[in-house]
Amino acid sequence: MSVTRRIGHLIDGKWIFPDDGEMLRNVNPATLEPVADVHAARREDLDAAVAAANRAFRGWRDLPAPKRGEYLYRLADLLKARKGELARLLTMEMGKVLKEAEGEVQEAIDMACYMAGEGRRLTGQVVPSELPDKWAMCVREPVGVVGAISAFNFPIAVPSWKIMPALILGNTVVWKPSPNTSATAAAFARAFLDAGFPPGVLNVLAGGGPEIGQALAEHEGVHMISFTGSSETGKAVYRLAAGQLKKVSLELGGKNAVIVLEDADPDLAAEGILWAAFGTSGQRCTAASRAIIVRDVYEPLVERLLEGVKTIRIGNGLDPDVTLGPLINRAALERVAGYVESARRQGIPVLCGGHPVPELKGHFFAPTILGPVDWHSAPAQEEIFGPVLSLIVVDDPEEAIAANNAAAYGLSSAIFTRDLNRAMRAVRRLDTGIVYVNHGTTGSEVQLPFGGTKNTGNGTREAGQAALDAFSEWKTVYIDYSGRLQRAQIDTEHIVG
Ligand code: UN1
Repeated sequence: MSVTRRIGHLIDGKWIFPDDGEMLRNVNPATLEPVADVHAARREDLDAAVAAANRAFRGWRDLPAPKRGEYLYRLADLLKARKGELARLLTMEMGKVLKEAEGEVQEAIDMACYMAGEGRRLTGQVVPSELPDKWAMCVREPVGVVGAISAFNFPIAVPSWKIMPALILGNTVVWKPSPNTSATAAAFARAFLDAGFPPGVLNVLAGGGPEIGQALAEHEGVHMISFTGSSETGKAVYRLAAGQLKKVSLELGGKNAVIVLEDADPDLAAEGILWAAFGTSGQRCTAASRAIIVRDVYEPLVERLLEGVKTIRIGNGLDPDVTLGPLINRAALERVAGYVESARRQGIPVLCGGHPVPELKGHFFAPTILGPVDWHSAPAQEEIFGPVLSLIVVDDPEEAIAANNAAAYGLSSAIFTRDLNRAMRAVRRLDTGIVYVNHGTTGSEVQLPFGGTKNTGNGTREAGQAALDAFSEWKTVYIDYSGRLQRAQIDTEHIVG
């Protein structure tokens, strides 16, 4: 039996189900059964959400941060209680296997607890002034209304990286989730409502297409944009937001690689590569889509990888034995198939997979390994966002690092080696925002910064303490209690010599 829900917008603390406007139908990508009927957000819904967020801003900003943290603690409790049901809905709407969906809800719980604790910290700096009887410090201020735009692949964890730090700092939020995961977004948002967050503090626009994203980016009532998605769309968002010099935080694509040196533990390396390449069916911005392997261990590693692929069970992620779910929709399936087809035409060997899975109803693509692939060629350069791994052969660690750094993206990289000196040298020279040693490219934790270099972003980071910088403005405060005019840099008696 399928469950169909009607999904509306959360605006000013109320669920809105407009009488007119387009409806979208979200289907389970594993079974093609309907999951939800979604009201597609219209311009007027966006305007109402932005107005509500602006109205709520002053009251929320003026609430002491530890009190704001209390709401997040309550939210964490609700998410814990609802972890199972949220994960099931996520799997039904987006397709990732249940274990991963549960992990994703856990990531939101972790973030809620971490940011709730920040309510009692949110540290600024107090530093000495160069003048006597003068106090100098800086404190964090909220930016205002944050427009959060997120993708389908992490419909709960990634929004929590945006919404939770934004809220603890005193911002209010208008969130446009991916239209593909509107039901999951609504269930997540319901937990905020039930945790008692005041009306307008979090507003959610269901079923919003690109035009709603664009309007959000250039809306005069929105003061910051936090976007996760493709580099191409991210650049468009950046340009639109530049019209008002909005603060912008971008988390974009990746072309992440795992390097394997000849002294690596071969079983661990194979296991790490398979998990990073095929977890979430490769639909992670941190997915490993390249394995860069030194020549001496190439053949035995390929053998291990192919053995490992045989143990992958493709199917409906609600089945506990399944380890690989579907892609999000038909367009994604066709795009991935197109990449593999063009690799084939270039004469690149397809070592396994390379095709959809016709005996299953949903949008399934078999785990695919291509190789050897020249490290300059398209499969080694373009983000595929599917279960496709390209193998690259190199002569030595130097070439491995050069091959990694040749990508136009710089999110995550990994190296498998038991040689500490080589590992440390690689850590220094890999040019990505995240580096793993003896683990694949996925699996970030909330208390550390997340983000990347080059086409992966614009220099900001999500999560960790870095998120506090992304979602706040510094206010520098000087308090002169000398009772006389003291001129910085001019009244220089204190300078020696
Ligand atoms: C993403 O793909 O947008 O590190 C985020 C990881 C996850 C988050 C990925 N915790 O793979």
